[in-house]
Amino acid sequence: MNGRFNTIAGWTLFGGILALGLSSLSGHFFQADKQIKPDVMGYAVDAGAAGGSGGPAAPEPIANRLAKADAGKGEAVFAKCKACHTVDQGAANGIGPNLWAVVGDAIGAGRGGFAFSDALKAKGGKWDFALLDEWLTNPKKFADGTKMTFAGLSSPEDRANVILYLNSKGSNLPLPAPEAAGAAPDAAASGAAPDAAASDAAPAAK
Ligand code: HEC
Repeated sequence: MNGRFNTIAGWTLFGGILALGLSSLSGHFFQADKQIKPDVMGYAVDAGAAGGSGGPAAPEPIANRLAKADAGKGEAVFAKCKACHTVDQGAANGIGPNLWAVVGDAIGAGRGGFAFSDALKAKGGKWDFALLDEWLTNPKKFADGTKMTFAGLSSPEDRANVILYLNSKGSNLPLPAPEAAGAAPDAAASGAAPDAAASDAAPAAK
């Protein structure tokens, strides 16, 4: 009886060892212990489908924002500029230049002999609505080395409002026509963008 028990115990033990060995072996062959990583981690988010327009990365075009803008609100935004700027005709330059009729005027020039930075002087061209929008988003990014030590207006609506206000102060340029929402070229471009981003990301992840 004892001998029979030992035999059974022995075979059971042997079976256990065999199973352990096999699982370790098959683990080696099939790399079951390793997680299988996809080429690209995470999953793609189709910003075009999910977001529509808006969102901080892609504000509405300035023309569309200007169409909805409010010069009165712009005057309130201009309170942030008043520490350095005057805007009335003939008013003195301060830390920054007087801004009467600045929309459509030469960038970094004139303004009663204001001493502009080389960075802004080097820009050339004239202030249009789009350039002012870019400038007021982040002056340092627009003209690296500018003397305008102002962080920028992060709100796209605030920028449109203050630009409309500036335009009402001596410039009065006609506003650009708003771009139709979901026009064919725009829709194609935003549809293509996430794909392009995904294929760009793939090599970087390897
Ligand atoms: C801390 C002071 C300061 C503040 C605040 C400030 N600016 Fe300026 N701004 C300047 C200076 C200085 C310059 C000249 C920049 C240069 O020469 O690089 C300038 C230049 C400009 C110009 C270009 C003028 C030209 O003729 O080319 C515009 C437009 C302008 N500012 C608009 C604004 C608006 C709008 C605001 C508020 C939202 C604002 N700034 C806030 C100091 C300031």
